[in-house]
Amino acid sequence: MKTDDVRADIPLLEKFIYLDAASTTPTPKPVVEAMCDYFYNYNANTGRGAYKIAIKATQKVKDARLKVARFINASPEEIVFTKNTTEAINIVAQGLNFEKGDSIVVPNIEHHSNFLPWLNLKKKGVNIKIVKADSYGIIDPSVIGEAIDESTRLVAVTHVSNALGSVQDVYEIGNISHDNNSLYLIDAAQSVGHMKIDVKKMKADFVAFPGHKGTLGPVGTGFLYCDQAQAKNLNSCALGGGTVANVSENDFQLESFPTRFEAGTKNIAGFIGLGASVDYINRIGLEKIEKHGIRLTKELYTTLSSINNVKCYGDPQNIYGIVSFNINNMNPHDVAKILDEIRGICVRSGHHCAIPAIKHIGAYEQGGTVRASIHYYNTSEEVQKLGETVEEIAKTFGV
Ligand SMILES: Cc1ncc(COP(=O)(O)O)c(C=O)c1O
Repeated sequence: MKTDDVRADIPLLEKFIYLDAASTTPTPKPVVEAMCDYFYNYNANTGRGAYKIAIKATQKVKDARLKVARFINASPEEIVFTKNTTEAINIVAQGLNFEKGDSIVVPNIEHHSNFLPWLNLKKKGVNIKIVKADSYGIIDPSVIGEAIDESTRLVAVTHVSNALGSVQDVYEIGNISHDNNSLYLIDAAQSVGHMKIDVKKMKADFVAFPGHKGTLGPVGTGFLYCDQAQAKNLNSCALGGGTVANVSENDFQLESFPTRFEAGTKNIAGFIGLGASVDYINRIGLEKIEKHGIRLTKELYTTLSSINNVKCYGDPQNIYGIVSFNINNMNPHDVAKILDEIRGICVRSGHHCAIPAIKHIGAYEQGGTVRASIHYYNTSEEVQKLGETVEEIAKTFGV
């Protein structure tokens, strides 16, 4: 599939220049249609009914789990469906039974969703060791190695920074964590659907994924990969329907993994949509998506950084899909608002739920950054239009 074919499946791209893939992506028609098919033709609960459409709904969610698992080189028994990346990380943070004196190593440029769940464990007496990225937002794996000691139970790192686009060497960090007997969690919110993810090669114990970003699935979906060896060590925090094998008035026996982590009725249409979106990404081809992403990211950075009074953050040699920038002396929200008002360009502005990262690059006082982020449906023409409009704004308001 070519970029134009994908654009034809996403009607909102006719009206807007959508450069906010890092927040969420628009859902292509075949994915919406897969969900509509469920709503119109077999809208029943899963894992409960004996009637035909309930069995069909159950099978479709099972198929989706298999598709998602294959997509990241895992088995379906290692996939917990969640409502987003944040829930996936919290399942690990709350389920691992951290104890006083344990330590967790985490970089200082993380999204709040891969930061607050760990910081919160300080209340239990867990030490949070924060390692510093360089000024471009790159984490030297050896710095992680130096922070690990015998008290370290987990290293938690984001693959691609949502604030800066910086790509971390998650493979080398995986080797270091593994060699030091530490558990390893990767936040793949900004990489899945953009580049090949192989959870086994990454030597990850846990990987948290959104369904609604790079994979072009619907909002309200995400998933957690949990290595089978770790499944037994993870306690379920939410209990109820669907999680138990047996119950008496005094006790209960939980179902096996992953069922015991999916309490209550799930986002059935959403997960069917997620399965369809993985098919869709496979039809385009991940290699093609990544190649397109690398080229457009370079164009974005080069175009924006060549404008007078514009500062881009991150190392252009080591970013993917995201360019964070500012116009001198302008609040990023004002820039984003003008881009939308005069050209229908959608970009994110502010702290991007990563206040420590924004402080790290010195953009906190300015109110954060403007962030343009791309996917396969974006074009060079859209990048040029963004550049021309930013230049216009910088000439008029920048100092
Ligand atoms: C790196 C990173 N981690 C976590 C999240 C949270 O994702 P979700 O909204 O799926 O919970 C995001 C969202 O932008 C992100 O970019």
